[in-house]
Amino acid sequence: MPPRTIREERIALGGKRRRAAAKAEVNPLREGLRLERVPDPHITVLFGSTGDLSHRKVFPALAQLSRTNLLPADWALIAVGRRPFDDESFRAEVATSLKQYARVALDPDMERQFLGRITYHRGDFSDSASYDALSAKIEGMHLEQGTEANVLFYLATQPSAFPLIVSEIGRCGMDHEVHGGGWRRIVVEKPFGRDLDSARKLNREMLRVFREAQIYRIDHYLGKETVRNLMVFRFANGIFEPLWNRRYVDHVQITVAESLGVEDRGAFYEETGAVRDVLQNHLLQLLSLVAMEPPATLAADALRDEKLKVLRAVAPASKANISRQIVRGQYGDGWVAGNPVPGYRAEKEVDGHSETETFVAGRFEVDDWRWSGVPFYLRTGKRMAKRATEIAIQFREVPHRLFAEAATDPQPNLLAIRVQPDEGILLRFGSKVPGLGLAIRPVTMDFTYGTAFSTDAPEAYETLILDAMLGDQSLFTRADEVEAAWSIVTPIHEAWVDGPAPEFPDYAAGTWGPEAADDLLARDGRRWRRL
Ligand code: BG6
Repeated sequence: MPPRTIREERIALGGKRRRAAAKAEVNPLREGLRLERVPDPHITVLFGSTGDLSHRKVFPALAQLSRTNLLPADWALIAVGRRPFDDESFRAEVATSLKQYARVALDPDMERQFLGRITYHRGDFSDSASYDALSAKIEGMHLEQGTEANVLFYLATQPSAFPLIVSEIGRCGMDHEVHGGGWRRIVVEKPFGRDLDSARKLNREMLRVFREAQIYRIDHYLGKETVRNLMVFRFANGIFEPLWNRRYVDHVQITVAESLGVEDRGAFYEETGAVRDVLQNHLLQLLSLVAMEPPATLAADALRDEKLKVLRAVAPASKANISRQIVRGQYGDGWVAGNPVPGYRAEKEVDGHSETETFVAGRFEVDDWRWSGVPFYLRTGKRMAKRATEIAIQFREVPHRLFAEAATDPQPNLLAIRVQPDEGILLRFGSKVPGLGLAIRPVTMDFTYGTAFSTDAPEAYETLILDAMLGDQSLFTRADEVEAAWSIVTPIHEAWVDGPAPEFPDYAAGTWGPEAADDLLARDGRRWRRL
């Protein structure tokens, strides 16, 4: 046999590892097409590479993909940043972050190999010359490393830098796809705009350079294993879909609760607040996955068309109704997990009189044939009693109370999809308590990932980055979807700006939010589920 080239060796080695990995992995959810596919050779260009997001999420996800041989053999990363690193010192920086944030530690050889693929490009976002130099570097690397002219740009910078970076990429022609091969794609982090107008403007600016099919807007909730399972749960099972509508469902509650405060992101959060940070994106995405019609195929646009229809069917609250339909709150000091914590206004980089909301709850309706009249209650908050993200489908009561005389009245059925933590799905139904009398008690059938599957679920960022590399847009939000979500929440901000100042703080850290959030459901004769 003729001696193999280094590249052939790498590919053969990759193949062996992949086969070994495939044997070791037994999780049926990960079998099939996705595992077989490895992205095309390419260069990832990461803007904002010295930032928190890159070090906490992006590098650990890339390292895990590398560890499991899901990165192509010919792959390189150019880390762009302002700070004065060279290749060696930047790699050391990444190594330190991996120690802290990697899901599974890389063995030293693998880590060396991964870090060796990273080069640092120092440049200020406003310095045109640095983009010219970047463009030349990319071309040089394609020739040297066989990355076949494919480039994945990744914007993990402050959102204010997005338009400038995109237009500079365009000015240098770095967005140009080469005829007959050589794709160019761009991943954009959230927040995408801060209201409907700015989101539209940002979409226009991006679309001046890239086509929609090249743009990957991240909402990391869509990459979570439990969120991806929502579609499987709804559409790969026959027994739930017939019940999934206004005839059987009384209401839906979706909660994204965090026990953490704003940590060291005070300045960012002051500008953002709970509506922009979580309601506009994560919560409305969960709502659209729960409420959408089955797509005809799994093609990205078939799926996104269905989600878009839901968002367009959510009636934006009228200004007059906002105070009845939407509740905001801000945490004061309190106790979380047995420790005293300061109120929001005392957090670092936060104004002592801040009116930024750290909690929001709302009552929404999806005005379509399936859901008309079924309220969707959404809530999110920082410094709540615990971290819990859950979707609860509350079914209607039985039409005739045959057991009204029983010692305990049966509660209506409930399906709770626990997105995190304790990932799983629970179905509640009434059961007769064993005994001579007639007592009924709610019991649950419980599925937990931990006991059903023996492998860990991937981190959302691993899934999303791999999908962007593979060119699959299903788990990324489209321009019209993002704008539809902003159309729902922008009137809320407008009403708040025009209305009276909120009386903040109005909930103690470590609780479930302001009383007004309970009143929101009590007015409809309902209660938030205790999580
Ligand atoms: C981010 C928000 O999008 O989502 C953060 O900016 C929030 O404020 C985070 O903490 C929650 O994500 P997760 O994956 O921890 O639920």
